[in-house]
Amino acid sequence: MTQRIAIIGAGPCGLAQLRAFQSAAAMGAELPELVCYEKQSDWGGMWNYTWRTGLDEHGEPVHSSMYRYLWSNGPKECLEFADYTFDEHFGRPMGSYPPREVLWDYIKGRVQKAGVRQYIQFNTVVRSVVQDPDSGSFSVTVHNYDDDQTSTREFDYVVVASGHFSTPNVPYFPGFESFAGRVLHAHDFRDALEFKDKDVLVVGSSYSAEDIGSQCFKYGARSITSCYRSAPMGYKWPDNWEEKPLLSHLHGSTAHFVDGSSKHIDAIILCTGYKHHFPFLPEELRLKTDNRLWPLNLYKGVFWEANPKLIYLGMQDQWYSFNMFDAQAWYVRDVILGRISLPDPARMRAEDLAWRQEEELLETARQMFEFQGEYIRQLIEATDYPSFDIAEVNRTFLQWKHDKHEDIMGYRDKCHRSLMTGTLATAHHTPWLQALDDSLQTYLSDQPEKRLKTVG
Ligand SMILES: Cc1cc2nc3c(=O)[nH]c(=O)nc-3n(C[C@H](O)[C@H](O)[C@H](O)COP(=O)(O)OP(=O)(O)OC[C@H]3O[C@@H](n4cnc5c(N)ncnc54)[C@H](O)[C@@H]3O)c2cc1C
Ligand SMILES: NC(=O)c1ccc[n+]([C@@H]2O[C@H](COP(=O)([O-])OP(=O)(O)OC[C@H]3O[C@@H](n4cnc5c(N)ncnc54)[C@H](OP(=O)(O)O)[C@@H]3O)[C@@H](O)[C@H]2O)c1
Repeated sequence: MTQRIAIIGAGPCGLAQLRAFQSAAAMGAELPELVCYEKQSDWGGMWNYTWRTGLDEHGEPVHSSMYRYLWSNGPKECLEFADYTFDEHFGRPMGSYPPREVLWDYIKGRVQKAGVRQYIQFNTVVRSVVQDPDSGSFSVTVHNYDDDQTSTREFDYVVVASGHFSTPNVPYFPGFESFAGRVLHAHDFRDALEFKDKDVLVVGSSYSAEDIGSQCFKYGARSITSCYRSAPMGYKWPDNWEEKPLLSHLHGSTAHFVDGSSKHIDAIILCTGYKHHFPFLPEELRLKTDNRLWPLNLYKGVFWEANPKLIYLGMQDQWYSFNMFDAQAWYVRDVILGRISLPDPARMRAEDLAWRQEEELLETARQMFEFQGEYIRQLIEATDYPSFDIAEVNRTFLQWKHDKHEDIMGYRDKCHRSLMTGTLATAHHTPWLQALDDSLQTYLSDQPEKRLKTVG
């Protein structure tokens, strides 16, 4: 009987799963029945920018956490699809750190070519997944906003590809309720120009804090203060950017920090991360984890051990992204197609725990991306996903880290070499700090961007 597969989400992970099946079908494999449910009206997941915050046009939580002027924060050479290169998509070399719309275009190019849009039901939110203990099949209940109908269908496998950088983790600090300015989470940040001429406080010391603070600096905030819970970011910040230990409380528009210092603040942006949140899953199927390289209970990082017909893609913290999702999706495909068999539960558990044990010993960034690279290498080795030089990708990550420590506002002007095609990136026509227009059209034009007379 034809297997029935439900895929929840048409972001990079869900699209990787569709492309994996399509590539097998193109080589003669019998395709299972595929249905991908996507609550937004278009594909691309996080990369599908929206101006909306809070609730979307249907009253669902807005998914995307991306903002205007967002550029890739890692070299594109580290996330390149091995089966669809930047050269193939753009037909010419370009910079190593493209803006969001350019990467969205690249993501879309591969799946347009593969012709998989027909499998996606847009404007359709998955409300619940329930497993029948006797048949083992899953009942998936969805609401389609195009016809305002709720319906339920049976599936043999469910692939959860709903992402984990969408539901904000929002800590409380005393004084928030009477703070004189705006308090928002990074999920709701959309346009740095809102903070022009303001004294901005960013809470957190990871990628969102670094990038949203940098955006605010670039678009004219008066000052940036970032504060950390565990460790400072430690970059050579511009003169109007100060790093402090954690916020303790607010009084009016004065922020007080745990070292006893204080500062006037106009707005607070909580860059405090996201929650793995699966409101459509019952307790026994729900992954519970913090944002880390090896979440537990997932064999090969994807199969829910208690019931491996439930699959999670992309739930790890991400050094590698798009090509890791591909490696996972190809492996999952081959298990579903019967090309790879899963071991017994005890072996799955032992392997899972061994990865976690190794993960807990990691100390340096280099060890972390080597760990993730080795995970990907092992997945790719088992399938026909085109292999690529993971050791060189790790070296590119190392160079990227070095570049950031040299010049946090200039690292995006550096060029890296594709590990898929050997093509060396070309310098973008305008240095990142001066490039205020992040549109695809401006990015791909040959003309340097003219510095706008005034920002905003
Ligand atoms: C601000 C920000 C910047 C980032 N920048 C980079 C970067 O520069 N480079 C990089 O490699 N990665 C970056 N990332 C990481 C990014 O999350 C991944 O690149 C990628 O988008 C993850 O793909 P995904 O498919 O797992 O999840 P997502 O892209 O989040 O897609 C999940 C999809 O599932 C849908 N969905 C969710 N719930 C339901 C439901 N119940 N029913 C139906 N559909 C549902 C959503 O609408 C969405 O389309 C960034 C993340 C954030 C938050
Ligand atoms: N331009 C870009 O491409 C771009 C921009 C932004 C984000 N991103 C991506 O988005 C993803 C998420 O990044 P993220 O930075 O939002 O999340 P994250 O990497 O999970 O980091 C969360 C941060 O919040 C801090 N934090 C959590 N709870 C806190 C609390 N109660 N008080 C103080 N600090 C707290 C953490 O501190 P501890 O260290 O103490 O735990 C950590 O610094 C990443 O994949 C990143 O690459 C990309």
